[in-house]
Amino acid sequence: MTDAELDFEVDPEDLEGWAPATREIGGPSLVVDHLDITYRVFGGKKLGTSDESSGRRLQRVVGRRSGHVGAVQQVRAVRDVTFVAHHGESIGIVGINGSGKSTLLRAVAGLIPPTKGSVYVAGEPSLLGVNAVLMGDLTGERNIMIGGLALGLSRSEVQQRMDDIVEFAGIGDFVYLPMKAYSSGMGARLRFAISTAATPDILMIDEALATGDASFREKSKARIDEIRQGAGTVFLVSHSLATVQAICSRVLWLHQGRLVMDGPTEEVCASYKEFVQSLRKSRSLAKKK
Ligand SMILES: Nc1ncnc2c1ncn2[C@@H]1O[C@H](COP(=O)(O)OP(=O)(O)OP(=O)(O)O)[C@@H](O)[C@H]1O
Ligand SMILES: [Mg+2]
Repeated sequence: MTDAELDFEVDPEDLEGWAPATREIGGPSLVVDHLDITYRVFGGKKLGTSDESSGRRLQRVVGRRSGHVGAVQQVRAVRDVTFVAHHGESIGIVGINGSGKSTLLRAVAGLIPPTKGSVYVAGEPSLLGVNAVLMGDLTGERNIMIGGLALGLSRSEVQQRMDDIVEFAGIGDFVYLPMKAYSSGMGARLRFAISTAATPDILMIDEALATGDASFREKSKARIDEIRQGAGTVFLVSHSLATVQAICSRVLWLHQGRLVMDGPTEEVCASYKEFVQSLRKSRSLAKKK
């Protein structure tokens, strides 16, 4: 053993009081390096005619150029984001609507190419993108097969897990109906059940836990803990700070595409809460005027 290695030896007593998550964390599983994602939006005319609030948001992002009907607009959804994730970490992503959370996850999943910068994933990004392969016109059963194959399972492995997946999702006989006939909660629960049927290297959950009752949340949390113990990395996007606090040891806060804070859950959630409260206050003041 070299001197350098000895330097890292720690007396177990020195670790008393550490959160368990701190000890489980392994080497890097994901590196996001100066990542920029810019969407190109064609036909500026549609801006503001769709959902009013999102239209306004888009106009604000694209600025004055939005007046150009039919022009190509650019939306800078993720700006210069850099972080390293580790095996065994569960990382929450918070931020107000349109701050770039879903875009960041989709880029990590390899569903959108970086406009600038890079994403490096260690190991097989097996789970990544299971949402993309599910089809509303097909039954839950067919989708479980397709999703399972996309995760790298064999046909017989999917068959073996079929009952467990249906049971976990709690969709019963709906499994024989096309997914488009599902309630949004059923769809979200099935996606979660499929995504976690194999133990993925990186599990990404975008809002899915908001749907579902307490018992589903409990089951999901147990499954997430299992994945982390298997040295996977979990990303959770949620507007529920309580969910983030229950599941994540670290939180990234995005605002207007930028990473404004990256740190322990309690610290980041406290700052983010303060920010949201002051935002609400200034909005209600503006309304009164
Ligand atoms: N496919 C797309 N084409 C063009 N612009 C997009 C597209 N998807 C998202 N955007 C824009 O990119 C920005 C970031 O959106 P994103 O969906 O990543 O935010 P979010 O943080 O997930 O928001 P929410 O909390 O509402 O889910 C927003 O301004 C949004 O309008
Ligand atoms: Mg989103």
